[in-house]
Amino acid sequence: MGNLLILFIASLGLCLFVALLYVLYNYWWVPHRVQFIMSSQGIRGPPYEFTHGNNKQILQMQKEAYSKPMALTHDIFPRVLPHVYSYIKKYGKNYLSWNGVQAQLVITDPELQGDSLVTSESEKRARQRKLANYAFHGESLKNMIPAIIASVETMLEKWKGKEGKEMEVFQEFGLLTSEMISRTAFSSSYLEGEKIFDMLMKLSAITGRNMYKAKILFIGKFWEPADEIESDKLAKMIHDSVMKIIKQKEEKVMTREADNFGRDFLGLLLNAYHDPDEKIRLSIQYVVGECKSSYFAGQKTSNSLLAWTILLLAINADWQDKARAEVIEVFGNQNPNSQGIAKLKIITMIINETLRLYPPVHGVLSIRYIALHHDPDLWGDDVHLFKPERFAEGIAKATYNNAAAFLPFGLGPRSCVGMSFSITKTKIPLSMILQRYTFTISPSYVHAPLPNLSLKPQHGLHLLFHSLH
Ligand code: HEM
Repeated sequence: MGNLLILFIASLGLCLFVALLYVLYNYWWVPHRVQFIMSSQGIRGPPYEFTHGNNKQILQMQKEAYSKPMALTHDIFPRVLPHVYSYIKKYGKNYLSWNGVQAQLVITDPELQGDSLVTSESEKRARQRKLANYAFHGESLKNMIPAIIASVETMLEKWKGKEGKEMEVFQEFGLLTSEMISRTAFSSSYLEGEKIFDMLMKLSAITGRNMYKAKILFIGKFWEPADEIESDKLAKMIHDSVMKIIKQKEEKVMTREADNFGRDFLGLLLNAYHDPDEKIRLSIQYVVGECKSSYFAGQKTSNSLLAWTILLLAINADWQDKARAEVIEVFGNQNPNSQGIAKLKIITMIINETLRLYPPVHGVLSIRYIALHHDPDLWGDDVHLFKPERFAEGIAKATYNNAAAFLPFGLGPRSCVGMSFSITKTKIPLSMILQRYTFTISPSYVHAPLPNLSLKPQHGLHLLFHSLH
């Protein structure tokens, strides 16, 4: 009995010792070694703290920044990414930070951007991009215009009678962009698409609030937090809903109610899923993933772009007048059409300047964009001013030929496949609003840009609309 007890205690001691070594190695030695190696290469950063890296400090800085609004200027970097702003000031444009034990090399020097953006592309991936490009460009995009206009008309119909009264339009634009994506990417299944979208929003909210939470040592392996259970549940429901739409489409083709899967994005993906050539056939996981990402990538970003563009025009009445004059010159009081959309030069300049000041991307990407787009070394002393005229002679001139300084849609094989689509679905509602209303900010508007899956006005976007007719 005595020997057994000693054996038990010795084994327990050994286990604890191995566990301690494991913790010290992974959570102390490795991060310190990485820090040392990077620093010898000239890359410094906020010091790693045991197990949580820089997360506590980052969360604290964010809490403080987001607890108060800012003045109505466009110098948003210190509020939106307070940690990146302060680390760049302290450690330079490229630095090393820690998300728990995960090292993150933050590169905001445009000289080094190009290499990090371009990655290699497999044959299958090239095909996937080709499909998305086909679905969201050229003739397909042209065919989407009536659906986009119908969505805007539904929104504007609701606005009738609200002239002169305060309206919160960020949510309005949220519904609009969601409907536009559902109608264009999923056509007939757009109601089901909107349900998926709702679930994706919940899922992304969970991801957002857990972004800087490091997993607790060991415990994470045995205990699943409520948020993780909820996100697994949502992920399954999203998968099932997408599968339901897919099955409906397949059934229609099998029962010959339809001759093909359709020319919308989902239809094109399904054709590729049924491709007889196994080498290039897409997996069902890919189809589901792609539906999710086009919603995810597309809705929040488009919502954000439209909202900040309208805000900037509400503040800058001169540019609002110029934009309206152009829209009336091109379309009169008619609905937008594809030839006219391509001619909107002033609107394009305004959209570019909005993308520069309020880049609608989130997560790690926002670091790259906000830091670059608000860098006075790249844009000059007027970097924080809304000056669409800097884009009058194109992007190359605006960036002094520094291609990496302005890449709101990314670059190379990973760049945004929805770029033309999102520009079109910004220009159409913008034109239709300008044709009908003048608008100003409401006295209750509080300026507080917040990175939340994209860049959103934290307290909403309160504007006053005055009918032109
Ligand atoms: C203002 C609107 C938008 C902005 C600013 C934007 C921005 C971006 C950026 C910066 C990337 C590159 C990410 C990287 O470098 O890894 C990206 C990728 C992507 N975007 Fe967008 N996006 C917008 C709208 C859309 C829309 C409307 C769709 C589709 C309906 C879309 C679909 C995608 C997809 C699928 C990718 C991944 C491409 C790949 O990995 O091959 N985006 N987007």
